[in-house]
Amino acid sequence: MPYRIQKFVFEKSNISLDWENQAKEWDYFVVPVFEKPKSESNDKSEIFSSSFLEKLNGIYKIFEVFSKEEFQGKYGSSFLFPSAKETSILFVGLGTIKEILYNPEHKISRAILKALQTIKKKKISKMGFDFESIKEFYKTFEISFHLRSLLTNILIAFEEYTYHSLEAKEISKEIEELKIFLDEDIPEEIQRFSLSVLRARANTKDLVNMPSNTKTTLTLVEKAKSLNNHQLKIDIIDDVEWIKTNMPCFYMVAKGSLASDPPKWIRVEYTPKTEIKHRIALLGKSIIFDTGGYQVKPDNYMNTMKADMTGGASVLSIIEEVANLQIPYLKITAYCPVTANKIDSDAMLPDSIVTSHSGKRVEIRHTDAEGRLTLIDAISIAEKEENDIFIIIATLTGSAARAVGPRIALMSTRRDKRKDFEQALEEIGEPYQSLEIEDDDYEDIKSKLDGADINNIGNEKYRGAQTAASFIFSGLSSREKVCFHLDIAGGDVDKEEKATGIAIKGVLNYLWNLAQSSH
Ligand code: BES
Ligand code: ZN
Ligand code: ZN
Repeated sequence: MPYRIQKFVFEKSNISLDWENQAKEWDYFVVPVFEKPKSESNDKSEIFSSSFLEKLNGIYKIFEVFSKEEFQGKYGSSFLFPSAKETSILFVGLGTIKEILYNPEHKISRAILKALQTIKKKKISKMGFDFESIKEFYKTFEISFHLRSLLTNILIAFEEYTYHSLEAKEISKEIEELKIFLDEDIPEEIQRFSLSVLRARANTKDLVNMPSNTKTTLTLVEKAKSLNNHQLKIDIIDDVEWIKTNMPCFYMVAKGSLASDPPKWIRVEYTPKTEIKHRIALLGKSIIFDTGGYQVKPDNYMNTMKADMTGGASVLSIIEEVANLQIPYLKITAYCPVTANKIDSDAMLPDSIVTSHSGKRVEIRHTDAEGRLTLIDAISIAEKEENDIFIIIATLTGSAARAVGPRIALMSTRRDKRKDFEQALEEIGEPYQSLEIEDDDYEDIKSKLDGADINNIGNEKYRGAQTAASFIFSGLSSREKVCFHLDIAGGDVDKEEKATGIAIKGVLNYLWNLAQSSH
């Protein structure tokens, strides 16, 4: 397991009543601390006193300790209290409701992670988490308590804390047992959803983090082949002639690496045991390494381009968990056009014209706009296979990164349907911002050449994320088709250039909700 938490226990118990029994059990016990909203008459910050904090105050005079140590529960702060003989209590400051109001689950997750990172010890045998204080705060201030989203985001903090890439020299953080205390049952399907999100994130990160010299098209092929679940059908096309004939734009990108690492077309199909209400295509940009091609990326712009297959790694890890969760009513197919974007004497040249799978004549104006070339053919094939909802995950444009930073840039063919997707992202605490596609974005990619209909870069000065999207959408037979396009170029890796697992929880949540509403 790429994250090192050996065992999860969801304990239905009131920790305030049970603390005496528990106190000595733990290496660390994590306790969230909120601040009361400041009133107009009193702008001094005050800690929100949950029953558990009251309990700890009764035993350890914790409020006095807080004021002595100047711990006020401020968002992002933490305080480690070495109390009972074996147990250390880690207080996590979560601030006021106002501070976390927008996207609270994600913000709570970030604050917990930050607090965990202050722990020096590497191997932790038992760790407890007080979920009850969060629930009490939510109830007191009448905020809707979304159990599945909160649990998922709390566990994500622990997943990130213990995650190490496969290349790590030593395991630095490990938890043998993590116990979550809440005074109500956490339904098993909620537990399973949260753990699926954790696995899909960690599996994706493992693939993305691999160094560029060991990563090839076979990396994703092996991943697909490893998905042995009888509800998954795996197809891998490595016949280059087939790709040349059926996916001509994709083939153009692959031409630069035919000898060293030929392209693969991966298709993994999930069939539910129930009747089918929707057919979903998950398309993942799967560029093993993006050098830019002949219009080569300058200087260190090429760094992190091993992560240009994040979309492909994501859709494969997502469909694996779709099968584990046995999501009903949805037939879901993951599609990955896998190739590097490299240079050899046969690599594609700018000014080439090629006819896409759907019959559009495509002018290649820029060899570094390769992702959209692979995806325009992929989406046409996915449409022929009678999908009715298309979801693209792609590290597609620097423009999206500049526009929205480390978030998903969400675009859609259909403004009217985008709400459902936005709601699913918001609910699970996935940071995103939406960009509108306008008619002039389609205008901007019209080719000026007699021999071509569209070109692979739009107006070069602005709206690069939207013109890239409209290029891929041009592979569909109509703009009425429902397509959600997630450009994750700003958030696929963090400042340390490590994979983040962006979009995994959001897409799984969308699929989960769609299945629930398909009864
Ligand atoms: N893979 C890149 C996009 C990217 C940039 C991802 C930075 C992550 C971080 C993509 O293939 C690309 O090179 N896009 C070009 C398109 C341009 C040539 C029209 C870009 O965005 O600069
Ligand atoms: Zn790329
Ligand atoms: Zn590129």
